[in-house]
Amino acid sequence: MSQSTPHAPVTKAIFPVGGLGTRFLPATKAMPKEMLPVVDKPLIQYAVEEAQAAGIANQIFVTGRGKTTIEDHFDYSYELSHTLETKHKTDLLEMIRPLLPTPGQVAYTRQQIPMGLGHAVWCARELVGNQNAVAVLLADDLVMADTPCLKQMMQVYAEVGGNIVAVMEVPLEHTSRYGIIDPGVQDGRLIEVKGLVEKPRSNPPSRYAIIGRYILQPEIFEALDAQTKGTDGEIQLTDAMATLLGKQPFHAFLFDGKRFDCGNKIGFLEANVAFALNRQDLAADFREVLARYTG
Ligand code: UTP
Repeated sequence: MSQSTPHAPVTKAIFPVGGLGTRFLPATKAMPKEMLPVVDKPLIQYAVEEAQAAGIANQIFVTGRGKTTIEDHFDYSYELSHTLETKHKTDLLEMIRPLLPTPGQVAYTRQQIPMGLGHAVWCARELVGNQNAVAVLLADDLVMADTPCLKQMMQVYAEVGGNIVAVMEVPLEHTSRYGIIDPGVQDGRLIEVKGLVEKPRSNPPSRYAIIGRYILQPEIFEALDAQTKGTDGEIQLTDAMATLLGKQPFHAFLFDGKRFDCGNKIGFLEANVAFALNRQDLAADFREVLARYTG
């Protein structure tokens, strides 16, 4: 495998949205999980805005059957715009205008069968090309932070290059739900990665769990070419990342912020509470409502 330029520019972001979202049935029977709103904004919009805030202009969505509302969300809606213009609702027009990607800077490809996150990322290989590092954002991992999580990672990437995964410390009993790193030397928030294990059943190498933010060198696609099935019979991104260890710089980054697992119901509900309480226009009224239930 060729050694890539450690500081290859990150100009593209992959949004894998091809999963079935079975933990959210029946809501996700006909609606993509990534379109579930936290307060009033779909999860996928938070992810797209995070990539934009990190300075990444090109968006690649790996979609699947039943996901066309995601494309519609980031498209021009003639009827809506016309109605809002006629009614002089300029504030709402201003709200939806930034949703339009620059023409030519958005691409959609389909993962016909959801064979795992690694497979979804692999589906974007031709659109990424072999010159650029790429960011991967999972919309159901929502991060509340003063500086958006991917922007923090890009700042670190400018210094160390290579591959970077965002991690957080989880309770020991939760390590079997995540990709877990085997940590090497730690320098502040930056941790050298010596090994990676997907959903360890026992003896996790640490409590540092990978969340859905990655900066990866293009060699990840060569690693994914093998299409090896791992945990849960899925093609796992963690397994492909593990093959890069020792060949390229590989770091974990303890991001500053709070992550909500919006792929499960409690995490999603908590995100709604936290984001609503963080909104000036809603916080006071919502706090009163919550008090009625928690009294
Ligand atoms: P999850 O691991 O949460 O899987 O995917 P899922 O299928 O969406 O949900 P459950 O477990 O059935 O409830 C994390 C992210 O990776 C994408 C999902 O769309 C989600 O954004 N993904 C997952 C794919 O794009 N393709 C896959 O094959 C699997």
